Amino acid sequence: MIIAVDGPAASGKGTIGAALAAHYGLPHLDTGLLYRAVGEAVAAWIDDPQIEAIATRAAQALDLDALDGEKLIGADAGVRASRIAVFPGVRQALFDAQREFALKPEGAVLDGRDIGTVIAPEADAKLFIVADAQIRTERRARQLEARGATVDRARMLRDITARDARDAAAPHGGFRPADDAVLLDTSNLDIEAAIKAAIAVVEAAIARKAASRT
Ligand code: C5P
Repeated sequence: MIIAVDGPAASGKGTIGAALAAHYGLPHLDTGLLYRAVGEAVAAWIDDPQIEAIATRAAQALDLDALDGEKLIGADAGVRASRIAVFPGVRQALFDAQREFALKPEGAVLDGRDIGTVIAPEADAKLFIVADAQIRTERRARQLEARGATVDRARMLRDITARDARDAAAPHGGFRPADDAVLLDTSNLDIEAAIKAAIAVVEAAIARKAASRT
């Protein structure tokens, strides 16, 4: 079974993706980490006129097994990731690794922006997680503060809004929910309720699939 969990920055898709993976005993890939790792690898060149070629080479050389989620969680890494994610060469270079993960024989959960539309359009269950930008900012701020970081909430809200705009206007057409994705608005849900709702979506997808086979 392939489960695709897409959505904007700090919508809760990573937490939901990890919870679904644990619930169904599937491997989980947070695909934002790939873009964040490329962004970090080229941080020194982010304003260089050659950044597209530099970032594409870094994406081609990325080692999936060396990704360190804790090092890449920061707000600045997210902003850099969204700057290099617009380059077609970067997206192409990261496509194969994501596709290979999606096709693991035991199934997989992937979270990101284009899992249900580009990476695994055949996914058995697709969720698109949304939440109000203020609420996403507060959640991400608390997550970082729990790790000892000092957070400027006004700046974080600006960064998240700018990232939403850049992601929406990306040259590849921007990120949109797949036609067959179920929209889950977590603005007014705590994490337990959001996970419960996500599991209900997957269960409904499994039931639909079983019914279509009979
Ligand atoms: O999800 P996360 O906040 O870690 O993603 C960081 C950035 O990486 C996003 O703002 C987006 O620009 C990019 N990204 C992407 N495609 C994905 C996952 C992330 O373009 N599948």
